[in-house]
Amino acid sequence: MRIAIVGCGFVADYYMTTLVNHANLVLVGVFDRSEERARVFCEFHRVPRFASLDELLAVPDLDMVLNLTNPASHYVVSKAALEAGKHVWSEKPLALDLGDAEDLVATARQRGLRIASAPATVLGDSAMAMRRAIGEGAIGRVRLAYAEMEDSMVFREDHRKWRSRSGAPWPAEDEFATGSTLEHAGYYLTWLCGFFGPVEEMTAFAARLFDEKNTGQAPSELANDFSVTCLRFRSGAVARLTCGLAAPVDRSLHVIGDEGILSISDGWNNRSPVFLRDKHGHATSRLPKLGKVLAVTERHLPFRQWMGRRLALPKQKAETPPYASRIDFMRGPGAMAEAISDGRPPLIDADFSLHVTELSLVAQNADHYAMPYRPRSTFTHSASV
Ligand SMILES: NC(=O)c1ccc[n+]([C@@H]2O[C@H](COP(=O)([O-])OP(=O)(O)OC[C@H]3O[C@@H](n4cnc5c(N)ncnc54)[C@H](O)[C@@H]3O)[C@@H](O)[C@H]2O)c1
Repeated sequence: MRIAIVGCGFVADYYMTTLVNHANLVLVGVFDRSEERARVFCEFHRVPRFASLDELLAVPDLDMVLNLTNPASHYVVSKAALEAGKHVWSEKPLALDLGDAEDLVATARQRGLRIASAPATVLGDSAMAMRRAIGEGAIGRVRLAYAEMEDSMVFREDHRKWRSRSGAPWPAEDEFATGSTLEHAGYYLTWLCGFFGPVEEMTAFAARLFDEKNTGQAPSELANDFSVTCLRFRSGAVARLTCGLAAPVDRSLHVIGDEGILSISDGWNNRSPVFLRDKHGHATSRLPKLGKVLAVTERHLPFRQWMGRRLALPKQKAETPPYASRIDFMRGPGAMAEAISDGRPPLIDADFSLHVTELSLVAQNADHYAMPYRPRSTFTHSASV
Protein backbone atom coordinates (compact mmCIF):
# COMPACT_ATOMS: atom_id res chain seq x y z
CA MET A 1 0.00 0.00 0.00
CA ARG A 2 1.32 3.44 -0.99
CA ILE A 3 1.41 5.94 1.86
CA ALA A 4 2.41 9.60 2.34
CA ILE A 5 3.20 11.48 5.55
CA VAL A 6 1.81 14.93 6.39
CA GLY A 7 3.70 16.52 9.31
CA CYS A 8 7.45 15.89 9.54
CA GLY A 9 8.00 16.69 13.20
CA PHE A 10 9.11 14.77 16.28
CA VAL A 11 6.81 11.77 15.94
CA ALA A 12 7.33 11.41 12.18
CA ASP A 13 10.87 10.22 12.94
CA TYR A 14 9.42 7.47 15.15
CA TYR A 15 7.26 6.35 12.22
CA MET A 16 10.29 6.41 9.91
CA THR A 17 12.30 4.27 12.36
CA THR A 18 9.57 1.63 12.42
CA LEU A 19 8.72 1.68 8.69
CA VAL A 20 11.22 -1.19 8.18
CA ASN A 21 8.92 -3.50 10.18
CA HIS A 22 6.17 -3.24 7.56
CA ALA A 23 7.07 -4.40 4.08
CA ASN A 24 3.49 -3.80 2.90
CA LEU A 25 3.93 0.00 3.21
CA VAL A 26 5.66 2.05 0.51
CA LEU A 27 6.32 5.71 1.33
CA VAL A 28 5.83 7.90 -1.74
CA GLY A 29 6.65 11.23 -0.11
CA VAL A 30 5.99 13.74 2.65
CA PHE A 31 4.73 17.27 3.21
CA ASP A 32 5.08 19.75 6.07
CA ARG A 33 3.76 23.31 6.11
CA SER A 34 7.18 24.30 7.43
CA GLU A 35 9.36 24.18 4.31
CA GLU A 36 12.52 24.12 6.39
CA ARG A 37 11.37 21.18 8.54
CA ALA A 38 10.30 19.24 5.44
CA ARG A 39 13.65 19.94 3.75
CA VAL A 40 15.71 18.73 6.73
CA PHE A 41 13.48 15.65 7.18
CA CYS A 42 13.69 14.69 3.49
CA GLU A 43 17.47 15.13 3.37
CA PHE A 44 17.89 13.01 6.50
CA HIS A 45 15.59 10.17 5.43
CA ARG A 46 16.18 10.56 1.67
CA VAL A 47 12.48 10.67 0.83
CA PRO A 48 10.64 12.79 -1.78
CA ARG A 49 9.03 16.06 -0.70
CA PHE A 50 5.72 17.50 -1.93
CA ALA A 51 5.39 21.28 -2.23
CA SER A 52 1.81 21.38 -0.91
CA LEU A 53 -0.92 19.23 0.59
CA ASP A 54 -2.87 19.54 -2.68
CA GLU A 55 0.10 18.22 -4.65
CA LEU A 56 0.43 15.25 -2.28
CA LEU A 57 -3.29 14.46 -2.39
CA ALA A 58 -3.31 14.69 -6.20
CA VAL A 59 -1.05 11.63 -6.53
CA PRO A 60 -3.49 9.16 -8.14
CA ASP A 61 -2.05 5.89 -6.79
CA LEU A 62 -1.55 7.18 -3.25
CA ASP A 63 -3.72 4.98 -0.98
CA MET A 64 -3.27 6.27 2.56
CA VAL A 65 -2.30 9.50 4.30
CA LEU A 66 -0.53 9.40 7.66
CA ASN A 67 -1.60 12.56 9.46
CA LEU A 68 1.27 13.27 11.87
CA THR A 69 0.54 16.95 12.33
CA ASN A 70 -0.18 18.74 15.63
CA PRO A 71 -3.61 17.95 17.14
CA ALA A 72 -5.05 21.33 16.05
CA SER A 73 -4.41 20.37 12.40
CA HIS A 74 -5.75 16.81 12.59
CA TYR A 75 -9.30 17.61 11.47
CA VAL A 76 -8.48 19.80 8.49
CA VAL A 77 -5.73 17.53 7.13
CA SER A 78 -7.72 14.30 7.60
CA LYS A 79 -10.83 15.85 6.06
CA ALA A 80 -8.89 16.99 2.99
CA ALA A 81 -7.34 13.52 2.62
CA LEU A 82 -10.72 11.77 2.84
CA GLU A 83 -12.24 14.20 0.36
CA ALA A 84 -9.39 13.34 -2.01
CA GLY A 85 -10.34 9.66 -1.70
CA LYS A 86 -7.46 8.55 0.55
CA HIS A 87 -7.60 6.30 3.61
CA VAL A 88 -6.32 8.06 6.75
CA TRP A 89 -4.20 7.00 9.69
CA SER A 90 -4.14 9.91 12.12
CA GLU A 91 -2.04 10.57 15.16
CA LYS A 92 -4.14 10.97 18.31
CA PRO A 93 -6.70 12.40 18.82
CA LEU A 94 -8.85 12.08 15.69
CA ALA A 95 -9.79 15.74 16.30
CA LEU A 96 -9.84 18.20 19.19
CA ASP A 97 -13.61 18.50 18.94
CA LEU A 98 -15.87 15.46 19.24
CA GLY A 99 -18.23 16.77 16.53
CA ASP A 100 -15.28 17.12 14.14
CA ALA A 101 -14.12 13.59 14.94
CA GLU A 102 -17.63 12.29 14.24
CA ASP A 103 -17.67 14.20 10.97
CA LEU A 104 -14.42 12.52 9.90
CA VAL A 105 -15.81 9.07 10.65
CA ALA A 106 -19.05 9.88 8.77
CA THR A 107 -17.11 11.26 5.78
CA ALA A 108 -14.96 8.13 5.62
CA ARG A 109 -18.03 5.90 5.83
CA GLN A 110 -19.87 7.81 3.07
CA ARG A 111 -16.87 7.41 0.78
CA GLY A 112 -16.08 3.80 1.59
CA LEU A 113 -12.73 4.77 3.12
CA ARG A 114 -10.97 3.78 6.34
CA ILE A 115 -9.90 6.20 9.03
CA ALA A 116 -8.30 5.26 12.34
CA SER A 117 -6.18 6.92 14.92
CA ALA A 118 -3.14 6.20 17.08
CA PRO A 119 -1.98 4.97 19.51
CA ALA A 120 -1.69 1.44 18.16
CA THR A 121 -0.07 0.16 21.34
CA VAL A 122 -2.97 -2.30 21.65
CA LEU A 123 -1.39 -4.11 18.69
CA GLY A 124 1.96 -4.36 20.50
CA ASP A 125 3.49 -7.68 21.50
CA SER A 126 2.74 -7.31 25.23
CA ALA A 127 -0.80 -6.03 24.66
CA MET A 128 -1.65 -8.86 22.27
CA ALA A 129 -0.23 -11.44 24.71
CA MET A 130 -2.35 -9.95 27.50
CA ARG A 131 -5.43 -9.81 25.30
CA ARG A 132 -5.05 -13.46 24.34
CA ALA A 133 -4.50 -14.51 27.95
CA ILE A 134 -7.62 -12.62 29.09
CA GLY A 135 -9.65 -14.11 26.20
CA GLU A 136 -8.45 -17.61 27.08
CA GLY A 137 -9.57 -17.15 30.68
CA ALA A 138 -6.07 -17.13 32.23
CA ILE A 139 -7.25 -14.85 35.07
CA GLY A 140 -10.91 -15.80 35.12
CA ARG A 141 -13.54 -13.08 35.07
CA VAL A 142 -11.92 -9.65 35.00
CA ARG A 143 -13.12 -7.31 37.73
CA LEU A 144 -10.68 -4.40 37.70
CA ALA A 145 -7.76 -2.78 35.87
CA TYR A 146 -5.36 -0.15 37.20
CA ALA A 147 -3.58 1.79 34.46
CA GLU A 148 -0.96 4.47 35.05
CA MET A 149 0.27 7.09 32.59
CA GLU A 150 2.39 9.19 34.91
CA ASP A 151 5.02 11.12 32.98
CA SER A 152 6.76 13.06 35.80
CA MET A 153 7.54 16.81 35.78
CA VAL A 154 8.90 16.82 32.23
CA PHE A 155 8.48 20.61 32.11
CA ARG A 156 11.25 20.89 34.71
CA GLU A 157 13.62 18.84 32.58
CA ASP A 158 15.95 20.19 29.96
CA HIS A 159 13.45 19.45 27.19
CA ARG A 160 14.60 22.35 25.00
CA LYS A 161 17.53 20.12 24.13
CA TRP A 162 15.38 17.13 23.15
CA ARG A 163 15.57 16.40 19.44
CA SER A 164 14.20 13.65 17.23
CA ARG A 165 16.57 11.74 14.90
CA SER A 166 16.30 14.28 12.11
CA GLY A 167 16.51 17.21 14.54
CA ALA A 168 12.89 18.23 15.26
CA PRO A 169 12.55 19.88 18.69
CA TRP A 170 10.15 18.31 21.18
CA PRO A 171 7.00 20.50 20.81
CA ALA A 172 6.73 21.51 24.48
CA GLU A 173 4.21 24.34 24.00
CA ASP A 174 1.90 22.13 21.97
CA GLU A 175 2.16 19.28 24.48
CA PHE A 176 1.30 21.49 27.45
CA ALA A 177 -1.54 23.24 25.58
CA THR A 178 -3.02 19.91 24.46
CA GLY A 179 -2.67 18.30 27.89
CA SER A 180 -1.01 15.21 29.26
CA THR A 181 -4.26 13.22 29.35
CA LEU A 182 -5.12 13.86 25.70
CA GLU A 183 -1.50 13.06 24.85
CA HIS A 184 -1.27 9.87 26.91
CA ALA A 185 -4.64 8.40 27.95
CA GLY A 186 -5.04 6.68 24.59
CA TYR A 187 -1.98 4.53 25.20
CA TYR A 188 -3.98 2.52 27.73
CA LEU A 189 -7.55 3.34 26.68
CA THR A 190 -6.82 1.40 23.48
CA TRP A 191 -5.72 -1.61 25.57
CA LEU A 192 -8.68 -1.38 27.94
CA CYS A 193 -11.26 -0.97 25.15
CA GLY A 194 -9.47 -3.69 23.16
CA PHE A 195 -9.73 -6.06 26.15
CA PHE A 196 -13.16 -5.15 27.52
CA GLY A 197 -15.11 -3.43 24.69
CA PRO A 198 -16.94 -0.08 24.82
CA VAL A 199 -17.36 2.04 27.95
CA GLU A 200 -20.88 2.47 29.29
CA GLU A 201 -20.16 5.16 31.85
CA MET A 202 -17.17 7.12 33.15
CA THR A 203 -16.40 9.49 35.99
CA ALA A 204 -13.34 11.66 35.55
CA PHE A 205 -11.62 14.34 37.59
CA ALA A 206 -9.06 16.66 36.04
CA ALA A 207 -7.05 19.62 37.28
CA ARG A 208 -4.13 21.87 36.39
CA LEU A 209 -1.56 21.40 39.14
CA PHE A 210 1.17 23.61 37.67
CA ASP A 211 0.51 27.08 36.22
CA GLU A 212 4.12 27.46 35.13
CA LYS A 213 5.66 25.11 32.59
CA ASN A 214 8.84 27.08 31.83
CA THR A 215 7.62 27.81 28.31
CA GLY A 216 6.38 31.35 28.79
CA GLN A 217 2.78 30.20 28.25
CA ALA A 218 0.12 31.96 30.33
CA PRO A 219 -1.90 29.69 32.67
CA SER A 220 -4.94 30.15 30.40
CA GLU A 221 -2.95 28.55 27.54
CA LEU A 222 -2.12 25.48 29.60
CA ALA A 223 -4.36 22.43 29.74
CA ASN A 224 -5.07 20.24 32.78
CA ASP A 225 -1.98 18.24 33.71
CA PHE A 226 -3.58 15.63 35.96
CA SER A 227 -6.60 13.35 35.66
CA VAL A 228 -8.12 10.27 37.23
CA THR A 229 -10.78 8.44 35.27
CA CYS A 230 -12.93 5.53 36.38
CA LEU A 231 -14.54 3.57 33.59
CA ARG A 232 -17.32 1.02 33.68
CA PHE A 233 -17.30 -1.16 30.59
CA ARG A 234 -20.50 -2.59 29.17
CA SER A 235 -18.99 -6.04 29.62
CA GLY A 236 -18.87 -5.45 33.39
CA ALA A 237 -15.17 -4.74 34.02
CA VAL A 238 -14.14 -1.55 35.82
CA ALA A 239 -10.88 0.37 35.28
CA ARG A 240 -9.07 3.31 36.81
CA LEU A 241 -6.69 5.31 34.63
CA THR A 242 -4.40 8.04 35.96
CA CYS A 243 -2.52 10.50 33.73
CA GLY A 244 -0.31 13.30 34.89
CA LEU A 245 2.80 15.44 34.95
CA ALA A 246 3.41 15.41 38.70
CA ALA A 247 4.12 11.90 39.96
CA PRO A 248 7.28 10.07 38.86
CA VAL A 249 7.18 8.02 35.66
CA ASP A 250 4.88 5.02 36.00
CA ARG A 251 3.42 3.29 32.96
CA SER A 252 2.28 0.09 34.62
CA LEU A 253 -0.93 -1.85 34.07
CA HIS A 254 -2.53 -4.48 36.30
CA VAL A 255 -5.58 -6.47 35.23
CA ILE A 256 -7.23 -8.25 38.12
CA GLY A 257 -9.47 -11.26 37.62
CA ASP A 258 -11.16 -13.79 39.89
CA GLU A 259 -8.39 -16.31 39.26
CA GLY A 260 -5.27 -14.22 38.75
CA ILE A 261 -3.56 -10.95 37.90
CA LEU A 262 -1.76 -9.84 34.74
CA SER A 263 0.83 -7.07 35.08
CA ILE A 264 3.27 -5.14 32.96
CA SER A 265 5.54 -2.29 33.95
CA ASP A 266 5.71 -0.22 30.76
CA GLY A 267 2.91 0.28 28.25
CA TRP A 268 5.30 2.25 26.02
CA ASN A 269 7.51 -0.78 25.55
CA ASN A 270 6.28 -3.01 22.74
CA ARG A 271 7.78 -6.00 24.57
CA SER A 272 7.34 -5.13 28.23
CA PRO A 273 7.32 -8.53 30.02
CA VAL A 274 3.80 -9.69 30.92
CA PHE A 275 3.60 -11.43 34.28
CA LEU A 276 0.83 -13.70 35.49
CA ARG A 277 0.36 -14.00 39.25
CA ASP A 278 -2.24 -15.71 41.39
CA LYS A 279 -5.28 -13.81 42.63
CA HIS A 280 -3.48 -12.69 45.78
CA GLY A 281 -0.70 -11.14 43.74
CA HIS A 282 1.82 -13.88 44.52
CA ALA A 283 4.17 -15.26 41.91
CA THR A 284 2.88 -18.46 40.38
CA SER A 285 5.70 -20.81 39.69
CA ARG A 286 6.34 -24.40 38.78
CA LEU A 287 8.31 -24.30 42.00
CA PRO A 288 5.52 -23.30 44.43
CA LYS A 289 8.08 -22.65 47.15
CA LEU A 290 9.73 -19.93 45.08
CA GLY A 291 6.40 -18.06 44.97
CA LYS A 292 6.10 -18.29 48.75
CA VAL A 293 9.69 -17.12 49.31
CA LEU A 294 9.08 -14.11 47.06
CA ALA A 295 5.86 -13.27 48.92
CA VAL A 296 7.60 -13.37 52.30
CA THR A 297 10.63 -11.42 51.03
CA GLU A 298 8.33 -8.74 49.67
CA ARG A 299 7.08 -7.87 53.17
CA HIS A 300 10.59 -6.64 53.98
CA LEU A 301 11.16 -4.73 50.76
CA PRO A 302 10.51 -0.99 50.36
CA PHE A 303 8.75 -1.74 47.05
CA ARG A 304 6.30 -4.23 45.56
CA GLN A 305 7.35 -6.53 42.77
CA TRP A 306 4.99 -8.27 40.39
CA MET A 307 7.14 -11.09 39.19
CA GLY A 308 5.17 -14.12 38.11
CA ARG A 309 4.97 -16.55 35.26
CA ARG A 310 6.14 -14.74 32.16
CA LEU A 311 3.84 -14.97 29.14
CA ALA A 312 5.44 -15.83 25.81
CA LEU A 313 5.88 -12.97 23.32
CA PRO A 314 6.51 -13.41 19.57
CA LYS A 315 10.12 -14.41 18.86
CA GLN A 316 10.61 -11.80 16.17
CA LYS A 317 11.45 -8.40 17.62
CA ALA A 318 10.25 -5.28 15.81
CA GLU A 319 12.51 -2.26 15.38
CA THR A 320 11.45 0.53 17.80
CA PRO A 321 12.85 3.98 18.64
CA PRO A 322 15.69 3.79 21.20
CA TYR A 323 13.90 6.23 23.55
CA ALA A 324 11.20 5.99 26.21
CA SER A 325 8.62 5.27 23.49
CA ARG A 326 9.72 1.80 22.39
CA ILE A 327 6.59 1.51 20.28
CA ASP A 328 6.22 0.14 16.76
CA PHE A 329 4.51 3.32 15.56
CA MET A 330 3.96 2.01 12.00
CA ARG A 331 2.11 -1.06 13.29
CA GLY A 332 -1.21 0.84 13.19
CA PRO A 333 -0.98 1.90 9.53
CA GLY A 334 0.59 -1.48 8.67
CA ALA A 335 -2.29 -3.42 10.19
CA MET A 336 -4.83 -1.11 8.60
CA ALA A 337 -3.22 -1.54 5.17
CA GLU A 338 -3.21 -5.31 5.58
CA ALA A 339 -6.90 -5.35 6.52
CA ILE A 340 -7.80 -3.11 3.55
CA SER A 341 -5.88 -5.40 1.16
CA ASP A 342 -7.60 -8.47 2.66
CA GLY A 343 -11.02 -6.78 2.47
CA ARG A 344 -11.72 -7.13 6.21
CA PRO A 345 -12.24 -4.51 8.95
CA PRO A 346 -9.05 -3.53 10.81
CA LEU A 347 -8.78 -4.21 14.55
CA ILE A 348 -8.34 -0.47 15.12
CA ASP A 349 -11.12 1.01 13.03
CA ALA A 350 -13.03 4.29 12.81
CA ASP A 351 -15.58 3.54 15.55
CA PHE A 352 -12.92 2.25 17.95
CA SER A 353 -10.79 5.36 17.35
CA LEU A 354 -13.78 7.66 17.79
CA HIS A 355 -14.63 6.00 21.11
CA VAL A 356 -11.06 6.34 22.40
CA THR A 357 -11.02 9.97 21.19
CA GLU A 358 -14.26 10.73 23.05
CA LEU A 359 -13.04 9.14 26.29
CA SER A 360 -9.73 11.01 26.05
CA LEU A 361 -11.37 14.39 25.35
CA VAL A 362 -13.75 13.97 28.30
CA ALA A 363 -10.98 12.81 30.67
CA GLN A 364 -8.73 15.72 29.63
CA ASN A 365 -11.47 18.30 30.11
CA ALA A 366 -13.37 16.55 32.92
CA ASP A 367 -14.09 19.88 34.66
CA HIS A 368 -16.30 20.84 31.67
CA TYR A 369 -18.60 17.81 31.82
CA ALA A 370 -21.31 16.62 34.18
CA MET A 371 -20.26 13.32 35.73
CA PRO A 372 -20.92 10.46 35.41
CA TYR A 373 -20.62 10.78 31.65
CA ARG A 374 -22.12 8.30 29.20
CA PRO A 375 -20.17 8.23 25.93
CA ARG A 376 -22.29 8.70 22.81
CA SER A 377 -19.87 6.70 20.65
CA THR A 378 -19.51 2.95 20.68
CA PHE A 379 -17.92 0.17 18.65
CA THR A 380 -18.38 -3.51 17.96
CA HIS A 381 -16.01 -5.47 20.12
CA SER A 382 -14.49 -8.72 19.05
CA ALA A 383 -13.05 -10.75 21.92
CA SER A 384 -11.01 -12.96 19.59
CA VAL A 385 -7.83 -11.69 17.91
N1 LIG B 1 6.28 14.04 20.47
C1 LIG B 1 6.04 12.79 20.78
O1 LIG B 1 6.83 12.15 21.50
C2 LIG B 1 4.79 12.11 20.27
C3 LIG B 1 4.68 10.74 20.51
C4 LIG B 1 3.56 10.09 20.06
C5 LIG B 1 2.58 10.79 19.39
N2 LIG B 1 2.68 12.14 19.18
C6 LIG B 1 1.60 12.81 18.45
O2 LIG B 1 2.08 13.12 17.15
C7 LIG B 1 1.45 14.31 16.65
C8 LIG B 1 2.53 15.26 16.21
O3 LIG B 1 3.34 15.53 17.32
P1 LIG B 1 4.86 15.93 17.15
O4 LIG B 1 5.46 15.74 18.48
O5 LIG B 1 5.45 15.26 15.98
O6 LIG B 1 4.69 17.49 16.85
P2 LIG B 1 5.72 18.43 16.04
O7 LIG B 1 5.30 19.82 16.32
O8 LIG B 1 7.11 18.02 16.34
O9 LIG B 1 5.44 18.07 14.52
C9 LIG B 1 4.22 18.34 13.87
C10 LIG B 1 4.55 18.82 12.46
O10 LIG B 1 3.33 18.98 11.76
C11 LIG B 1 3.45 20.14 10.95
N3 LIG B 1 2.08 20.63 10.67
C12 LIG B 1 1.20 21.13 11.55
N4 LIG B 1 0.04 21.45 10.92
C13 LIG B 1 0.24 21.14 9.61
C14 LIG B 1 -0.59 21.25 8.47
N5 LIG B 1 -1.83 21.74 8.53
N6 LIG B 1 -0.09 20.85 7.27
C15 LIG B 1 1.18 20.36 7.21
N7 LIG B 1 2.01 20.23 8.24
C16 LIG B 1 1.54 20.62 9.45
C17 LIG B 1 4.27 21.10 11.78
O11 LIG B 1 4.89 22.08 10.96
C18 LIG B 1 5.28 20.16 12.44
O12 LIG B 1 6.48 20.04 11.70
C19 LIG B 1 0.56 14.81 17.78
O13 LIG B 1 -0.75 14.39 17.55
C20 LIG B 1 1.13 14.12 19.03
O14 LIG B 1 0.12 13.89 19.99
C21 LIG B 1 3.80 12.80 19.60
